[in-house]
Amino acid sequence: MKPIQIAENIYWVGAIDWDVRDFHGYSTNRGTTYNAFLIMGEKITLIDTVKKSMKADLIARIREIVDPEKIDYIVVNHVEMDHSGALPEMMELIKPEKLICSTMGQKALVQHFHREDWPYEIAVPGKDVSLGEKTLSFLETRMLHWPDSMFTYVKEDKILFSSDAFGMHLGTSERFDDQVDPAILMEELTKYYANILTLYSPLVKKLIVKVKEMGLEIKMIAPDHGVVWRKNPMMAIEAYERWSRHEGKGNAMIIYDTMWHSTEMMAKEVANGLQDEGISVKLYNLRYNHRSDVMKEALDASAIILGCPTLNNGLLPRMAGFLMYMRGLRPTNKIGAAFGSYGWSGEAVKLLNEAMTEMKFDLVDDGIKVKYVPEAGELSHCVELGRKVGQALKEKL
Ligand code: FEO
Repeated sequence: MKPIQIAENIYWVGAIDWDVRDFHGYSTNRGTTYNAFLIMGEKITLIDTVKKSMKADLIARIREIVDPEKIDYIVVNHVEMDHSGALPEMMELIKPEKLICSTMGQKALVQHFHREDWPYEIAVPGKDVSLGEKTLSFLETRMLHWPDSMFTYVKEDKILFSSDAFGMHLGTSERFDDQVDPAILMEELTKYYANILTLYSPLVKKLIVKVKEMGLEIKMIAPDHGVVWRKNPMMAIEAYERWSRHEGKGNAMIIYDTMWHSTEMMAKEVANGLQDEGISVKLYNLRYNHRSDVMKEALDASAIILGCPTLNNGLLPRMAGFLMYMRGLRPTNKIGAAFGSYGWSGEAVKLLNEAMTEMKFDLVDDGIKVKYVPEAGELSHCVELGRKVGQALKEKL
C-alpha cells in the first residue's frame, strides 16, 4: 500500500487491478492500474481518483502521506468511471475547496453523480492555478477520448498528467517506463492506442502539433493507466504521432472465421499468394484471437483481407461482432479484399465488402465466394487474390 514518489512532493497514490481481464470489450490480459497522483503543495491536490471498487487502496496510499481531509483540490482529468467511480466517496471524505475539471467535465460529472452542489471550478487553458510552490496549467483535449478529457501540467516539474492518453493496460508494481521490458511497453501501448484512440487519430495529430507549437517541455508523462514515462516520454509521443497517420508498415493480415474449414482453406491460399509477392502476412482466426488483439495488429497493417462463410444469409457471429467493433474504431488507409464459402445464398462476401467500403478501404477485387468446399481451381483463384493484394501493396509503398 506504499505510495511512490514520482517527483519532489508528487506521489503516485493509485490502485493496481491485477484481476481485470475485460475492459468494455478490450481484453486486458495483464490487468491494469488506475493512476491517481497527490501533489503536496501549499494547496494539497489530488489528480484523478480510481475505480469505485479500488477506493480503499487510494485512501490507504494517501494516508501514508497525509490525512485525506487535508486535501484542498481534486482535479478530474476524465470522468469515465475507472477514474471517477471513487469520486463521490472521496468528495465526502475530503470535502475539497475546489473540484477542478473541464466545462464538459462538469456536465458529465453532474450527469454521472447528480451533484450540482459540488465546488466545481472550470479548468481554463491559459489560466493557471497556483498550489503555492507548484503551478497547474490545463489543456483541453476534448474527444481524446471523451468530451470531458483534459490534461493537467505541472509547470515546475514539467510533468504532463495526460489522463488516458499515452497509457496502457498493464498491471505492474513497477511505476516507471525504465523498470518494464520495452517490448511489453510497446505491445501494451500499441494495443491501447488501437482499441481506444484509433478513431480519434485526426485529433491526436492536431494535439501533437499544438503541443509542439506551445513549446511545452515534457520531462515526464503520467497517464491514468500503466507506467509513468520518465526515461523516454518521447517514445510514447512519437508512437502516437506515427499511429495517428494510419500509415501501415507494408504487411498484410487475413482475418477470418470458418465453419467447416472451407474458408480456412481459402485463407491459407490467399496467404500463399501474398507470400509469392514477398509480403509479410499473418492469419487471425477469430475463434482463437480476441478482437482487441486483432485490432492491435490492424493498427500497423497495410492490407486487411476478410474471410467468412455465409450463415443464415449473413455472417458468422464472431465476424459480425468483429466488424461492428472495427467499424467503430475506423481504421483508414488500408487495402482490402474478401473471400468466403457458402452453401446456397452466399451473402457474406458482399457484406464484408460493404463493411470495408464503409471504412474507405481500397478494394482490389470483388472478392471470391466458393460453394461448399473449394476445388483446386478455386483455391488457385485464392492464391491469385493474395497476389493481387500483394501487388497493390507494393504499388502503394
Ligand atoms: Fe481510463 Fe477513458 O478511462
